[in-house]
Amino acid sequence: MKGLVLSGGYGTRLRPLTYSQQKQLIPVANKPILFYAIEDIIAANVHDIGIIVGPNRDQVEKTVQSRDWDANIEFIYQDAPRGLAHTVLISEKFLDGEPFVMYLGDNLLCDGIVDHANRFRSSGADASILLTEVSNPERFGVAELNECGEVVRLVEKPKVPPSNLALVGVYLFKPIIFDAVKNINPSWRNELEITDAIQWLVENGYHVQASVVKGWWKDTGMPEDILSANNLILDEIEASCSGAVMDESVVQGRVEIGQGTILENGSVIRGPAIIGRECKISNSYIGPYTSIGDGCEILDSEIEGSIVMDGTRIDLRRKIVDSLIGANVRISESSKKPHGYRFVIGDSSEVKV
Ligand code: G1P
Repeated sequence: MKGLVLSGGYGTRLRPLTYSQQKQLIPVANKPILFYAIEDIIAANVHDIGIIVGPNRDQVEKTVQSRDWDANIEFIYQDAPRGLAHTVLISEKFLDGEPFVMYLGDNLLCDGIVDHANRFRSSGADASILLTEVSNPERFGVAELNECGEVVRLVEKPKVPPSNLALVGVYLFKPIIFDAVKNINPSWRNELEITDAIQWLVENGYHVQASVVKGWWKDTGMPEDILSANNLILDEIEASCSGAVMDESVVQGRVEIGQGTILENGSVIRGPAIIGRECKISNSYIGPYTSIGDGCEILDSEIEGSIVMDGTRIDLRRKIVDSLIGANVRISESSKKPHGYRFVIGDSSEVKV
């Protein structure tokens, strides 16, 4: 079996972060979201992986290649976001007639895909989909099942959803999916939808297996999804400290502290939290559900429930909560007159004071 991971698209709902960074590279608990997908695929004993790259292809390739994977990884370029089914079409050569798992690189699954992949391997089904109950099905692909749990119909982002069962972004296919993607037309958003391709399989009598996911699942399309994914991953973090805890600083609960990081001047870190390498935390409070990237400085500040990316410096005598702060950002107090807020903020930013 082969793997196909999607890491293209513009990530418009995550601007301004996605002006400078591919959305699947946004870190959750200090690890790019994309890496969770690659790890899940390798855990399912798939070691031949194609990664679909788009606008920031160099960034994605460099980040993926910065780690040693127990897999052969190839990159496949998609010139524009033409839909999930289009990524299958352009991967025909790479997939080479083998069954494959397709994993959307912005999805996070609590329990991984090992059971899902094994069930597909032993079932003989032509395709296998994962479903989960959601309160806002109109945001997703939605499945309608009959009394026996068989898939009757699939629709993409329906105005009137036939059920509350959303399609999770992990699909398993036999090569018959190529017949399907070649026989569908672009949707209203001018994309070749994978949902329509699976519907084609259903209509043409192929066996589409469906199972409902029990653990949590996150599609990290919006800032609040990224923060909530961060909470879920940090809930499972284990305590470890490779840094230095000085000057009566205190670490409470499960906190991971990276190499070269210094906590000083009575700082308090309350887990679950993760602090990367080479950070300086001085006279500050880092509260639960916070991820601080590498090379950050947090001085005389308080922060909780937030993600702070690499190289950022926060020096603010106030508390920051529930925030998504990009890389190399500067947040500080100013004593200059006139007193007031001073902003240098890019397009599509959001500030709440
Ligand atoms: C895509 C699929 C949708 C699925 C979702 C899961 O939506 O088209 O069927 O439910 O991923 O993350 P998109 O992220 O393109 O809006």
